[in-house]
Amino acid sequence: MDNRIVSPEIKNEDDNTLRPKFLKDYVGQTKVKEMIDIYIKAAKLRDEPIDHILLYGPPGLGKTTLAQIIANEMDVSIITTSGPAIEKTGDLAGLLTQLTPGAILFIDEIHRLPRFVEEMLYSAMEDYELDIPVGKDQTSKTIRVDLVPFTLIGATTRYGDLSSPLRDRFGVVERLEYYTVDELKQIVLRTSKIYDCMIDEAAAYELARRSRGTPRIANRLFRRIRDFASVKGDGKITLEICKDALLKLGINPDGLDFRDLKYLRGIVENFKGGPVGLDALAQTIGEEASTIEDVYEPYLLQEGYIQRTPRGRIATEKTYKLLNISYGGML
Ligand SMILES: Nc1ncnc2c1ncn2[C@@H]1O[C@H](COP(=O)(O)OP(=O)(O)OP(=O)(O)O)[C@@H](O)[C@H]1O
Ligand SMILES: [Mg+2]
Repeated sequence: MDNRIVSPEIKNEDDNTLRPKFLKDYVGQTKVKEMIDIYIKAAKLRDEPIDHILLYGPPGLGKTTLAQIIANEMDVSIITTSGPAIEKTGDLAGLLTQLTPGAILFIDEIHRLPRFVEEMLYSAMEDYELDIPVGKDQTSKTIRVDLVPFTLIGATTRYGDLSSPLRDRFGVVERLEYYTVDELKQIVLRTSKIYDCMIDEAAAYELARRSRGTPRIANRLFRRIRDFASVKGDGKITLEICKDALLKLGINPDGLDFRDLKYLRGIVENFKGGPVGLDALAQTIGEEASTIEDVYEPYLLQEGYIQRTPRGRIATEKTYKLLNISYGGML
């Protein structure tokens, strides 16, 4: 994927100085925060590690940030890895045996763990025991290794891709939701303070409104607009600079970009508004089906531009309005 500015899944631009370190600084996700706060307090009272936690939801909403916050709040160390990085049973064994009592193992993209690694994880999570296969014929013999009590935090954008035995081993399962405009505005104002770059209230609101409910996008747009403000203005982000920059960055007043529009046009113009299956649509607009499903659609669904039916995606009246095509006119 090229450098689409509103891609929520591109992480290499994330600025760690913007990551809140404690729960009190983590904006929004009120319900999740409340629950996690209770689990942390209860675990501390019992002097036990916190239960295994599964966090899921669209990219850029703060899953990794939350895992790190839990480690900070529990005052334990955290080892971070990802599903595709664990290729062999030995990789998992290496990570698990490094953990100090109560520590956290964070596995990002946990839905991409190889199945045999996943199966090894079951006894590790349940009994803090690891059965490591040895010898040529991997089923012939295993060595049992005792582990220290630990917490596994898994993160995924694809809850449905997790096997049910793995899902069932998480005591806590929390879904992160898209942020409201007010919450994103708070995040924008926080970023403004950390960067020591002033932004008008109205500009902060506008930026928040166009960030697809996603903190990662809000922060990325902030950095771009900050460049415009220092070159075109006196460094302060005014509403005018904000709007001008967003226009130049190709983001429309609803926070959608050309790719969203291409997707929506694909449904309306090539498939008469749907229903259309994912693969047919993906082919028409030249995008990966998985990118469409994980990145474009969750936001377009939540905002009511499309609906998913058993027969495929359909464009709603809102989309017709957006594209300036009369609803029904295409039917
Ligand atoms: N609740 C929040 N309050 C303030 N800033 C946040 C919050 N959540 C996320 N952020 C900011 O958004 C950025 C992206 O968050 P994070 O990396 O945790 O997302 P993620 O859900 O792990 O994404 P991915 O699924 O792509 O791994 C962080 O660097 C942080 O600056
Ligand atoms: Mg992450």
